[in-house]
Amino acid sequence: MKRMLSGIKPTGQLTLGNYIGALRNFVKYQDDYEMFVFIANLHCITVYNEPEELRKNLKDCVALYLACGLDPKRSCIFLQSDVMEHAQLGFIMCCNTYLGELNRMTQFKDKQAKGEQGLTGGIYTYPALMSADILMYDADYVPVGEDQKQHVELCRDTAIRFNNRYGKSFNIPEPVVAKVGAKIMSLSDPTKKMSKSEQTNKGCIYLLDDLKSVRKKIMAAKTDDIAKVQYDPQQQPGISNLMTIISALTNQSFDDITKNFEGKGYGEFKKYVADIVCEELAMIQERYAEIINNNVIKEVLAEGKARAEKIASKKLDQIQRTIGIEIK
Ligand code: TYM
Repeated sequence: MKRMLSGIKPTGQLTLGNYIGALRNFVKYQDDYEMFVFIANLHCITVYNEPEELRKNLKDCVALYLACGLDPKRSCIFLQSDVMEHAQLGFIMCCNTYLGELNRMTQFKDKQAKGEQGLTGGIYTYPALMSADILMYDADYVPVGEDQKQHVELCRDTAIRFNNRYGKSFNIPEPVVAKVGAKIMSLSDPTKKMSKSEQTNKGCIYLLDDLKSVRKKIMAAKTDDIAKVQYDPQQQPGISNLMTIISALTNQSFDDITKNFEGKGYGEFKKYVADIVCEELAMIQERYAEIINNNVIKEVLAEGKARAEKIASKKLDQIQRTIGIEIK
């Protein structure tokens, strides 16, 4: 069975973008692959988080993994920092990644271009840690949203170079990006990605948002004055984004959605979108409420740690021998 690995960095609450672009796909794939899904808590601290809030977000992230349908029997679910090998292989990968490569990462470049203050060394080098996360387990596939594809490609480049230099050490992973829903846009500004770090909350739906406010956000989503429900991301980014959400959640094609809403107004369309999204979130939130207050989270993480650690310690040992930092 081929191996698949991915992770989410809960620097805030998980969003509908995380769900459609990533988490939902992990659940779908867990039957066909040997699945590893972790909570990227080391990646979280590349920016400052209030510790109490971070702890809550991490716990919520595990509960949401389970609530969305990840099954600990089929998927290895673990907390990144529980497997300390990640940080060590992360440094090794950092030493095998060139400054020029890190400088080309669009996420970092965007932050710099926006003039964000207080950028840390961690946020600059995190793509190397992400390479370690993936290479540690010799993952074949890495399901991610559009914004993380470049980092998986950097991971591939680094692994190929490492293999050329030291002999075959890592499997070369491939990114898996869904055809529909790999970049869900903000509801209030559909030219920007829906993101946890949005300034106002209007454009971002969180999986644990109360459903009334979800409905309100969708009904207030920015549209256009063309007055036709059709997929045209250039001219109608808002409507196209809502269509993408529907298509991802219900498997309807864009053509079918357009046909169903021929001659109907945006109000009616938005109400339909809100119904679909709220139905999905209601199910997730119900399961989340059952999970959050029982002991299952601790158990799942302990099991995941044991399984992941076994693979990681062997891999790190092998790599350290390969590069010559262990005395035989
Ligand atoms: P993160 O936490 O930013 O995002 C987690 C996953 O959600 C996807 N995503 C989206 N997809 C569609 N539309 C959106 N608006 C949207 N927002 C986020 C992301 O593409 C991603 O797949 N560095 C990673 C976490 C990570 C990781 C890894 C992933 C660490 N190590 C190893 C894969 C393999 C991150 O910050 O993702």
